[in-house]
Amino acid sequence: MSDVVTKYTDIAAQQEAEIAKLKEEILALQNGEVELSPEVEKLKVENQKLKYRLGHLLRSIAEEEKNTAKASSDDANVMTNISQKLETVFATAIKASFPELPNPSVAVESSKNDRFGDYQCNSAMAIAQQLRAIGKKTSPNEIAREVVKNLPPSDIIEKVDIAGPGFINIHIRRPFVSTVISDILNKGVRPPKTGGKRRVVIDMSSPNIAKEMHVGHLRSTIIGESISRLLVFAGHELVKVNHLGDWGTQFGMLIAHLQDRFPNYLTESPPISDLQAFYKESKVRFDEDAEFKKRAYTLVVKLQAKDPDIIKAWTMICDISFKAFEEIYERLGVKNLIPRGESFYQDMMVSTVETLESNGFVKLEEGRKIMFTDAGKVPLTLVKSDGGFTYDTSDMACIRYRIFEDKADWILYVIDAGQSIHMENIFAGGRMAGWYDPAKMRIEHIKFGVVLGEDKKKFKTRSGDTVRLADLLNEGMKRSLDKLKEKERDKVLTEEELLAAQRSVAYGCIKYADLCHNRICDYVFSFDKMLDDKGNTAVYLLYAFTRIKSIARLAKIDQAAILKAAATTPINLTHAKEWKLAKCLSRFPEIISRILSELLMHMLCEYLYELTTTFTEFYDVCYCVEKDRQTGEIVKVNMSRILLCEAAAAVMAKGFHILGLEPVNRM
Ligand code: ARG
Repeated sequence: MSDVVTKYTDIAAQQEAEIAKLKEEILALQNGEVELSPEVEKLKVENQKLKYRLGHLLRSIAEEEKNTAKASSDDANVMTNISQKLETVFATAIKASFPELPNPSVAVESSKNDRFGDYQCNSAMAIAQQLRAIGKKTSPNEIAREVVKNLPPSDIIEKVDIAGPGFINIHIRRPFVSTVISDILNKGVRPPKTGGKRRVVIDMSSPNIAKEMHVGHLRSTIIGESISRLLVFAGHELVKVNHLGDWGTQFGMLIAHLQDRFPNYLTESPPISDLQAFYKESKVRFDEDAEFKKRAYTLVVKLQAKDPDIIKAWTMICDISFKAFEEIYERLGVKNLIPRGESFYQDMMVSTVETLESNGFVKLEEGRKIMFTDAGKVPLTLVKSDGGFTYDTSDMACIRYRIFEDKADWILYVIDAGQSIHMENIFAGGRMAGWYDPAKMRIEHIKFGVVLGEDKKKFKTRSGDTVRLADLLNEGMKRSLDKLKEKERDKVLTEEELLAAQRSVAYGCIKYADLCHNRICDYVFSFDKMLDDKGNTAVYLLYAFTRIKSIARLAKIDQAAILKAAATTPINLTHAKEWKLAKCLSRFPEIISRILSELLMHMLCEYLYELTTTFTEFYDVCYCVEKDRQTGEIVKVNMSRILLCEAAAAVMAKGFHILGLEPVNRM
């Protein structure tokens, strides 16, 4: 940095001296009125510019120094986001080069092909356009050269070169990456720096009582769990809420049917094992029997009036349902999910409607109380003409609760994309009511598409019913065991190991198949595809992981030895494949940073897949352990490479944890 500053100071001083000299000459010559020659005018302008640039550089340096000082104090728990660091360096150079642009474009990304360096800054073309817009014509190549000239020193950059019309290829320093790898081993896989800890409320899973949890709820559960784990890893505080559909008119018919089928329900807990069948039976009666229907309605009123006997019946039904849900969560490894269904907001709905009314947001239309928001044409129905509340009312009360009682500063709703209009309306309602400021608070609908069957139609059983989640998980378990047996793993693994592998593969593949696609899209559920051991699947990754983990074990190096070696052995990155693997590992923080802003988990799957294939390329050509051909005895261990393997395993394990995959050491 000081080199650049000295350079500019020198040039400026030199020019000043030149101008002074010229002025004197002119004065002497003309000995009268001074009219500056065009050359002097030009130099004067140039000089002004240089001085400005110098001032700018000095300010940037001071800023950068302040940041580094602050960073080093809290950097111990975070990993360096290389692309972001480079972006800061380039932003400094770009601002110094074009102070006339208020918002110059700055973008740095990792290179897809190492012919173009390790990272690239391709902002020159965009800057050329920005300059043209203010009447300056400069070629991208000239711009790139200017930027490179003004680059402040950086401990990451080895060198840069300009390619093509103005691409800046950045080559990063191997010793820097080598330290990143050692740090992974010594300090663990840590998150990148984020904008500070936040209290996040995440609405996930949210099935409906008495109805079977379906694949849509499975998606919400899997995606929500993974996002939660990511946010916890990033240091945020999480409140995971299960917004159960546990209130509403369907309870009238359920309770009426309960009273008929189990008249002693108040003293003896009813032995209902299949609540879905029970629901269907009551629905049939409700649709066919007018008398029953009438009774169902009076029971809804009684439930809303909190009649103790009716509340007891309601609680029983909820409990039976909830037990079944809990089993699913247990199998999927979902923990700390707080059940807080629609019923929770019952009493708050009254005051919510009142507040909205007194602030003039509510309109009366055909006996209904509605609220128009700026999100669309469909109004929110807050109170029905019969005085009852709706899904809209409960969500308005709920968002208010999350903002003011939960004191959330980030709220996520993991719900299918089909409810987009509803969600947008709720967010707009809250915003209009002044409950939150979208500039300060993230409230987002984490949308996802529909699960399709292999026939590309909505996922159903052969008889056209919704697939029961428990059955789906059972089938996954069966198919996973078949797969392991097909590979004759049952002959090598102990019974315990086999069961662990079976679980890991079954639940892992179902979760991964869901997460590895962009969640916004619909996805086709196929056991055959997800259990494939080639390609971007959980099976492929889990197998690769066990293989990596076995390298040190077979070389008879235990964890203690690895830790000891990590502290003393520098990671050698001379071989092209070692370098490629290390670079891939060092990109983990920037991948996490990106996912944190977009919450698209498939990016993590893609990264893990790339990491695994990069590892395979490395392992194919770089011997970690050399054995005697005859005796098979280990003759040489390349500790630096063993450490690279361990770092790869550590990053993979962290990625797996975030996705909810549970790797096993042997499978
Ligand atoms: N129970 C709803 C359903 O199954 C999902 C609830 C989502 N959460 C919310 N706050 N609306 O469609």
